[in-house]
Amino acid sequence: MTSRISVSAPGKVILLGEHSVVFGRPAIALAINKRFNCSLAPASEYYLNGISLEPSRHPHIRHALKHYWEGGPLDIRLHSELPSGSGLGSSAALSVAFVGSLQAMSGNIIENKVAKAAFEMEYAAQGRASPVDTSVSTHGGGIIITREEGLNHLWTFEKAEKRWCVHDLQVPTMTLVVGYTGINGPTGPLLTKVKNYYDKSGFARETIDDMENITLEGQNALHKGDLEHLGRLMTRNHKMLSILGVSCNELNKLVNAAMPYSYGAKLTGAGGGGSMIALTDRPDEVCNAILRRGGTPYKVLTGVAGVKVE
Ligand code: PMV
Repeated sequence: MTSRISVSAPGKVILLGEHSVVFGRPAIALAINKRFNCSLAPASEYYLNGISLEPSRHPHIRHALKHYWEGGPLDIRLHSELPSGSGLGSSAALSVAFVGSLQAMSGNIIENKVAKAAFEMEYAAQGRASPVDTSVSTHGGGIIITREEGLNHLWTFEKAEKRWCVHDLQVPTMTLVVGYTGINGPTGPLLTKVKNYYDKSGFARETIDDMENITLEGQNALHKGDLEHLGRLMTRNHKMLSILGVSCNELNKLVNAAMPYSYGAKLTGAGGGGSMIALTDRPDEVCNAILRRGGTPYKVLTGVAGVKVE
């Protein structure tokens, strides 16, 4: 057993399909160059960032220690470049980095086992989830989730009568800008809000059906390198997410500010605050427009590694 081990995992942006993916529909996500780092060392009792660990306050960690750890107490140190509730997958990256470091402590990191365990951690902590964030954070690069297994299949997870087939996705070079609202978008309550709407409204169910078609069209646009069409699909996806009630004024302001300089723009992640993304070839103008409307802009680098020992 190594004395101290350090593992990191990336955050993500969802290009198309957040929320609808929770209902077993497709989604496309990319890992980004902001990471969550977890380091572990054996200790006399459990510590988290130098303070005695209170498991009840850290549901992801509690779940992982209960289900995926048979060793003794650990000194856990966490460091994140991803603000919590920013829509950039911070809790998924935490889950992946933590369970990855537990695996690295006692052997090697096995991608599909990390992805599965991290999905279970998110599901338990939020009450529901899809494997999109945890899968892209584990694998890195890009992924697409579909109903059936196809080319470049990575793993398939099933839960609550839903099935997600996760595939590696090669994406063309493109420039994305994130605009962070600075407002915490709480994923769990937003998922419950959409589920309640879905259960009682045929219109909500039709909207989720439309989102499936948009994501599949987006897969084709990516394949052809047609960024103009992809951008239009992203903007349509944003309107549908607004219909589902997960956008907010601050997100709409940043999306509208980015539009004159972008192929398309949308909220990314759970919404309710958090972040938006713009697909553009004028990133500096988009960054300035986001700044002028009170957001924090950030140029995204994609094609980054998934979970890895540092
Ligand atoms: O806001 P985030 O980073 O937690 O992303 C949530 C993405 C959802 O599709 C809304 C939920 C999920 O589990 O897929």
